[in-house]
Amino acid sequence: MFFICKMQTTENRETTQALQYLRRAFEQRYQRPPEVGVASPGRVNIIGEHTDYNDGYVLPAAIDHHIYLLFAKNGTDTVNLYSLDYDQAVSVPLREVRRTESPWQNFIYGVVYQLRDRIEGFDLAFCGNVPEGAGLSSSAAICCGIGFGLNELFELDLQKWDLAKIAQKSEHDFALLNCGIMDQFACLFGQKGHALKLDCTDLTYEASEVDLAGCVFLLLNSMVKHSLGDSDYNRRREESEAAIAWLRGRFPTLRNYQGVTPEMLGEVKGELEDTQWRRAHHIVSENQRVLQMSKCLAEHEVVSAGQLLTEGHYSLQHDYEVTCEETDFLVTTLTELPQVYGARQVGGGFGGCVLALVTEDHVQETLDRVGEAYQQQFNLTIQDIPISITGGCHRMI
Ligand code: GLA
Repeated sequence: MFFICKMQTTENRETTQALQYLRRAFEQRYQRPPEVGVASPGRVNIIGEHTDYNDGYVLPAAIDHHIYLLFAKNGTDTVNLYSLDYDQAVSVPLREVRRTESPWQNFIYGVVYQLRDRIEGFDLAFCGNVPEGAGLSSSAAICCGIGFGLNELFELDLQKWDLAKIAQKSEHDFALLNCGIMDQFACLFGQKGHALKLDCTDLTYEASEVDLAGCVFLLLNSMVKHSLGDSDYNRRREESEAAIAWLRGRFPTLRNYQGVTPEMLGEVKGELEDTQWRRAHHIVSENQRVLQMSKCLAEHEVVSAGQLLTEGHYSLQHDYEVTCEETDFLVTTLTELPQVYGARQVGGGFGGCVLALVTEDHVQETLDRVGEAYQQQFNLTIQDIPISITGGCHRMI
């Protein structure tokens, strides 16, 4: 078992195994070797939730769970897709690519559609080990992996930010999720052993080494799957946009959420509609937590880092209202244990994973205690997901 911020050696082996398995399937199906192979990582967000589409800060890191994709040109105008995990294959003429009822196909079509005038027919096979609906961005890993691979295959000369925006647009237009840019950024720009603090107003970022002196991050999957497209994610975005529009009317020099202070929010409590006030309160306090967390990482300050995680969860629970009974229970149970410095739900919300900061020597005990309580309460088995922080989307072949 290995955890975030522990050097680990299994990543290369896993990539090699995935590549062998996928290559065999590709060659069997298409009767030709792949020309380009890509490993596209998921991400964990250390803190900064729902701040990306609100001109805020985020602090994600790419993780060593990947979508692996193999590509070859096929000399026709047909796009052939093969998902090993879904055991489904489909072919469609490039000119007829459009939104469908299949979520996994939509992630791919959304990217292909934007590039259709610059590419030709191709064959694709892919598989992966980024858990779906767990708040670890399996969808961004697919979208970015497709864009990255097609960019290599057809020598399109697109830069990482171009690919990030194409992947984001695929989610907007084909998955109908009005997401921010954090997941695509983390997937493409990830750096081994580092978390990346991104300022979503100007897309500048800083990398901080994650070294938690004597502690590790544990990632626990609540096994409650979210499906963000169907959830209240888009509504949260509307509410927080309505709140900032109102605040701009009230404070005419204000440009965006980064200019909103806790004092300003205090002043308008009772004036701004309550739900919108709480959405804004989450964003303003979460931005501060990102800046503080980034300082904690630089100073290896685990006690305050843990407190920030837990405060972040309560803000998601009460102000932004994107948690669920199961993840709330996990956070409460975890934070009652003396060896746990803090915990919070990660990702878009409504289920998925909880990230906890735990002393290194008490990992197994923590898993046992929380696992048992969770089983008793919900009759569900939590899954611990061993992760380490890895580099961004890259070529395998
Ligand atoms: C999803 C979205 C991101 C971000 C998070 C919440 O992962 O894709 O853009 O908004 O939710 O922080």
